Amino acid sequence: MEEFEPRIVSQENETGGMESVVERAMRPKGFNSFVGQTKIIDNLKLFIKAAVQRKESLDHTLFSGPPGLGKTTLAHIVAAELGSNLYTVSGPALDKKGDLASILTNLQPFDVLFIDEIHRCPISVEEVLYSAMEDYKLDIVLGQGPGARTVQIDLPPFTLVGATTRAGLLSRPLRDRFGIRLNLEFYTPKELKSLVVDGGHRLGMPVADAAAEELSSRSRGTPRIALRLLRRVRDFAEVAGLKKINLEITRNALERLGVDERGLDTMDKRVLLTIIKHFDGGPVGIDTIASSIGEESQTIEDVYEPFLLQEGFIQRTPKGRVACRGAYEHLGLDQNYSGN
Ligand SMILES: Nc1ncnc2c1ncn2[C@@H]1O[C@H](COP(=O)(O)OP(=O)(O)O)[C@@H](O)[C@H]1O
Ligand SMILES: [Mg+2]
Repeated sequence: MEEFEPRIVSQENETGGMESVVERAMRPKGFNSFVGQTKIIDNLKLFIKAAVQRKESLDHTLFSGPPGLGKTTLAHIVAAELGSNLYTVSGPALDKKGDLASILTNLQPFDVLFIDEIHRCPISVEEVLYSAMEDYKLDIVLGQGPGARTVQIDLPPFTLVGATTRAGLLSRPLRDRFGIRLNLEFYTPKELKSLVVDGGHRLGMPVADAAAEELSSRSRGTPRIALRLLRRVRDFAEVAGLKKINLEITRNALERLGVDERGLDTMDKRVLLTIIKHFDGGPVGIDTIASSIGEESQTIEDVYEPFLLQEGFIQRTPKGRVACRGAYEHLGLDQNYSGN
């Protein structure tokens, strides 16, 4: 698997660097240590079992959902459960058809090719995927101009696992080629709590019950955030000379980190305040919000908005985003607030 890595390095998460190294170390290796998403997991186990019994490759599988919910983790688990190799590439890094062709022709039967951010594959690369996924065939054009000819190469049966923050961003023909489509949802505080308690043990810093509950309820339903906050709270606890993370240090640390009781951080609040203060509570288009806070609309839509929508802080309407009563209440603002 290493042989592809020097060319197309996978983007494991937004933060990169040391954080992603730690994150990889904390990643569950099998279904047993994967918390929550029970319906998805039950289905996946069944599909994997059936494929293994039939000695066929697992159908192409698409995981969608906001960042940090476990898409990459599941891709690794799927390969491990199949007993197959996993090759990871990221959509935007596949900028030439040739990149993909060389990866595909090196696959062994039943291998898993994981394409992260698959909605960002260039269209030329996507077109190569169509026949590769459907018929395990690869069309290669040799030569140029009038003398050019196409040869078809057979590929081994393989499984493409795709991950995307929003399935709706995939083109129809690509989406249709995934036999298994699973959408990950935000985790409950209870699920996150068990993840935090477990994470504390693995970090050698146990977490008191009340502290784990506090951390979980402020993690926006997202394992990556829960684990990241846990590591930061651990820093505070260590410096304070504690052997165990308690509620007090958790609250202090989260306050210092700018994470409020509902898990909103500075950026979430800027989104809400922009809608309320600058646009009278909306409706206002996402691009307008984006330019007034200096963030990309796609990032707002992928990273911030899903949780704000789920928690009822904002609503999407045909005319744009609207701040809901919950947002005013949470920010301690009058609903007739006009910003002046
Ligand atoms: N269900 C889960 N159980 C345990 N840990 C999880 C779970 N989902 C995600 N994680 C952890 O959260 C972090 C982010 O998960 P990842 O798979 O990279 O998310 P995504 O690819 O969806 O952005 C990883 O460190 C992973 O170990
Ligand atoms: Mg990922």
